[in-house]
Amino acid sequence: MADPVHALARAFQAAITTAFGAEHAAVDPSLRRSTHADYQANAAMALGKRLGRPPREVAAAIVAALELDGICRKVEIAGPGFVNLTLEDAYLTRELAETAGGGRLGIAPAAEPETVIVDYSGPNAAKEMHVGHLRSTIIGDALARVLEALGHRVIRQNHLGDWGTPFGMLIEHMLDLGEAAASQELSVGDLNAFYRQARAKFDGDAAFAERSRRRVVRLQGGDEQTLALWRQLVRESTRYFDSVYRRLGVTLTDADFAGESFYNPMLPDVVEELGRKGLARESEGALCVFPAGFTGKGGEPLPLIVRKQDGGYGYATTDLAAIRHRLTTVGARRIVYVVGAPQSQHFAMVFATAREAGWLTPPARAEHVAFGSVLGADKKMFKTRSGDTVKLSDLIDEATERAAKVVREKNPDLDAEAADAVARSVGVGAVKYADLSSDRIKDYVFDWDRMLAFEGNTAPYLMYAHARIRSIFRKAGVESPREAGIVLSEPAERALALELLRFGAVLEDVAATLEPHRLCGYLFELAGSFTSFYERCPVLRAESDDVRRSRLALCDLTAEVLAKGLGLLGIEAPERM
Ligand code: ARG
Repeated sequence: MADPVHALARAFQAAITTAFGAEHAAVDPSLRRSTHADYQANAAMALGKRLGRPPREVAAAIVAALELDGICRKVEIAGPGFVNLTLEDAYLTRELAETAGGGRLGIAPAAEPETVIVDYSGPNAAKEMHVGHLRSTIIGDALARVLEALGHRVIRQNHLGDWGTPFGMLIEHMLDLGEAAASQELSVGDLNAFYRQARAKFDGDAAFAERSRRRVVRLQGGDEQTLALWRQLVRESTRYFDSVYRRLGVTLTDADFAGESFYNPMLPDVVEELGRKGLARESEGALCVFPAGFTGKGGEPLPLIVRKQDGGYGYATTDLAAIRHRLTTVGARRIVYVVGAPQSQHFAMVFATAREAGWLTPPARAEHVAFGSVLGADKKMFKTRSGDTVKLSDLIDEATERAAKVVREKNPDLDAEAADAVARSVGVGAVKYADLSSDRIKDYVFDWDRMLAFEGNTAPYLMYAHARIRSIFRKAGVESPREAGIVLSEPAERALALELLRFGAVLEDVAATLEPHRLCGYLFELAGSFTSFYERCPVLRAESDDVRRSRLALCDLTAEVLAKGLGLLGIEAPERM
């Protein structure tokens, strides 16, 4: 890990242990960037309070025990007890060379690579994906990419809603339309219309409803003709979802679909096992588990229904089968469910049940990566003007069109073909970045103008920052001096270097917290540090050849980190814009 903060933190922990004993080793050294030095540590404040001693005295004791030879050239106590730290130039240069070398950019492969399942997207067959599925798709894809970059074995799982009672009416509706017409309707992606028509007939036509119910029974009974129709229905939907993923530049493929139907054959056995382990019992005709710690308003235990009154299985049973399969058959160490916040209780209960059943045991862990809603300008759920769910393909169309306009304004000289490609990248990038850059658990307002702006924490700003650096090389006709030694003399150069060294640690932080906005915030700060550097330090007209090469190397490294970081968010970084 190249981030100097980590080396400093380790040294502080050791010094605190030496000076005050191991029981204080966990005190946060509280390191941050400083205007008076490279970093400042505020550990003595918290520790002084704990020990009831003046912080300045505590700071002096820590500094006396600090071993920072080769790392820091200056360590000073300031004010009430801050410790100001200035890094050794040679140390900084060496770390930078290591970061730049081999193109790893400071990304260290995980010491213990894990098998991680990322469950994301999860749309429902024969239904339009809604904005919640869009969030899951975007966040899940970024997390999968980051985990993979750190060397974990990532298994993407698309828990498609492709089973259950609605399929009776959907199949009957398909038969009514005629397979050719139905397949036409499904493949153009008018899934909502198809679903609504089926639903309307089901609600208004008793004979159709009866046919649908009989169809469900045949589907569940494994009737071959019914299964063939069901397969066709699912195939048309997955084809449509795949096309959306391609347009969005999402890494999910056909091979990642493991829908609810996949777990169907496992359900009776899962229920049997829960019964055998004494976890399931009858309640009002249904079979339920009551994981410890979940109670309703009146203090009564909350049920997770594993078998309904009519003998059918539902969403919860399927998730129990999925988690058992993932842990005991696939051997996952970590399972990450990227699903909206309204399902928090569902997942908490599924995880608790899996623990009680002995499937989910440390070091394996399951995490619900919850997220908030996307709101319209009116602060209500994001909908089309007519109040419909926003269709993802329409959203991508609009993003591209709007992006084409801003790209043309920004750079009228781009040829048509390049401008088209850039508009696509900017449009999709803007939508993704707007989603990823906000703290995922919060709701956010979908705002075209803000996400497409070239100022602020946006995709266009970062993409443009990257393209601008690339143009420095293009205009000067110079190659990137990859192996050039970096020499730091100006404070703005130093600040940029310190920022560059953080990249690997930021990715580790994203992998630990599953919060992509931390990477966005980092890239935004990096672009800011670069701008300050570029304003203050001449690159092509630097005072000497060595300085020029060194600054070009800093430019190149910045561009690479920006492109790599955007790439891990699923956003393209064109060479020119
Ligand atoms: N199809 C579900 C929905 O639309 C999402 C599936 C999430 N994944 C899971 N394992 N339950 O709400």
